[in-house]
Amino acid sequence: MHTLFETIEKYRVVPVIAIDDISAALPLADALLEGGLPLAEITFRTQAAAEVIQTLAEKRPELCVGAGTVLTYTNVHDAIQAGAKFGVAPGLNAETIDLAESMEWTFIPGVCTPSEIESALAMNFTVLKFFPAGAMGGIPMLKALSAPYAHTGVRFLPTGGVSESNLADYLALPTVLACGGTWIASKNDIAEGNWEQIKQRCQRIAEIVGQ
Ligand code: 3PG
Repeated sequence: MHTLFETIEKYRVVPVIAIDDISAALPLADALLEGGLPLAEITFRTQAAAEVIQTLAEKRPELCVGAGTVLTYTNVHDAIQAGAKFGVAPGLNAETIDLAESMEWTFIPGVCTPSEIESALAMNFTVLKFFPAGAMGGIPMLKALSAPYAHTGVRFLPTGGVSESNLADYLALPTVLACGGTWIASKNDIAEGNWEQIKQRCQRIAEIVGQ
């Protein structure tokens, strides 16, 4: 039995998904599953997010579904109600963190500076989203940030500007647990029903991760 972080570390990529149309939820899930990447972070950037999470949690239990862009108390509440197994946020927000903790819900807050990392460590988080990874300096920045904190056991989920071309370099950093990104299943791909392309992208990710 894998813990959630073990599952994320096994697949090493978390597709970050913004989905408007509930009818796309199951075909998208099937593309991810058939591609061998059974993880999805459904972001609260659309009105449909909670309903999509609930549909996937009920109808595709083999997919590990989390919530992304968790910004508010209501987002945490709705995500848990809908059955999200974990939550991810771009920043450190006391209100969302407190509720997630009181509900014993796995939460990955976002950081991009040493002080934010230290705040998160003081709150006992061990896995942190590093966002926006590319704009903050990408791999050299994360390498430099890791130096004083690697010994704490902290692991990062870099997101923002990660792509097929730089994935292997991010994953080579020992402090990187996994990478997140929208490139696997973009809004456009979902709107156009490009399920085969999404599936093939997942298969290429599995090859990169396997190398
Ligand atoms: C996120 O919220 O995780 C990011 O917006 C994803 O960034 P990307 O579109 O560059 O992958």
